[in-house]
Amino acid sequence: MKLFVTGGAGFIGSEFIRQSIAAGDSVVNFDKLTYAGNLDNLVSVADNPRYSLVVGDICKAADVAEAMPEKCDAVVHFAAESHVDRSILSAEEFVLTNVLGTQVMLDVARHRKAGRFLHISTDEVGGDMEEDEWFREESPLEPSSPYAASKTAAEHFVRAAARTFGLETIVTRTSNNYGPFQFPEKLLPLAISNALEDRPIPVYGDGLQIRDWVHVADNCKALRLVLEKGFAGDTYHIGGGDPMTNLEVLHMLLRIVGKPLSLLTTVKDRPGHDRRYAVHFGKITRELGWRPETTFEAGLTQTIEWYQDNAHWVERCKNGDYRSYYETQYSPAGRG
Ligand code: NAD
Ligand code: TYD
Repeated sequence: MKLFVTGGAGFIGSEFIRQSIAAGDSVVNFDKLTYAGNLDNLVSVADNPRYSLVVGDICKAADVAEAMPEKCDAVVHFAAESHVDRSILSAEEFVLTNVLGTQVMLDVARHRKAGRFLHISTDEVGGDMEEDEWFREESPLEPSSPYAASKTAAEHFVRAAARTFGLETIVTRTSNNYGPFQFPEKLLPLAISNALEDRPIPVYGDGLQIRDWVHVADNCKALRLVLEKGFAGDTYHIGGGDPMTNLEVLHMLLRIVGKPLSLLTTVKDRPGHDRRYAVHFGKITRELGWRPETTFEAGLTQTIEWYQDNAHWVERCKNGDYRSYYETQYSPAGRG
């Protein structure tokens, strides 16, 4: 396949690109390289002749149109502002990138006659689930955070593009991803890196919020399957099938790294914090035969080992060195 991927320097997009290059696809990666874009994630494919990078902003239609080849097999749209806590501090970038940027991508994909448009959404668009309630593909969308609201709005534009212009769209909604190369601001990489350095791990509120965790490699395998075999116009949920409270997750993590529970430090709760996500992914299993391969404990152990073995990657995230390539090659000064 010839793929045009947005946000491929981020956590999930980079895994998707590594898998796609390994499978023989060609990939143009269109990424703005915000704080979340890290070219260290793509070192293993950077010199592959089937991979190329274009640094640009999905809100700028002319730049996207210039970068997108005519009639690519699919646009795979990961680019987004993705962190709930940042959206609470300021929602502006979320509206711009997640809503306006998605609309621009849909327009350009249509004009450049892309075969398919795979939109990567999140289980957070469903908001809180009651006890025993499951978030299904047809459930109402009731976002709680500015991040989730922007992803919900984006989904509506995707649906409208399919209905109004006949664009061949598919939406996936994934639960919390974890695994190698995740920027250390989200719960698991932050907790792993703090635990390894004997630093306190912030627990928001009572820590009894429930999340479903899916390994990023499993998620990307599902995305590739949906791209190849999913039905146009459909929505597919993707999950790990192992919902747990944040405290259960953190206790397991500390047990694996052999550090004391006393590292857990209660901090003020996140405003509007969703208590329970429960993504139901029976449809993708039934229709396409996908199910997660990695159990949470095995995936967490492997992820912890990755962070232990890649302390240099974490260090470069923390001290900002991961941006040096961008600054020398792509900043206005670097372009000379
Ligand atoms: P990330 O924050 O790690 O990466 C986002 C990427 O998008 C970065 O490379 C960044 O540079 C790029 N980007 C941001 N704004 C851009 C713009 N205006 N133009 C071009 N590129 C831009 O995100 P992630 O965790 O890899 O998530 C990828 C997608 O998956 C997002 O759409 C997110 O909403 C969705 N998602 C994530 C999770 C999760 O657990 N991480 C779960 C469900 C859905
Ligand atoms: P996060 O990784 O930010 O993902 P999301 O908010 O998209 O689910 O957070 C996962 C859960 O962990 C969520 O309930 C908030 C909580 N959390 C903490 O308790 N402490 C932290 O330092 C962070 C970042 C999150």
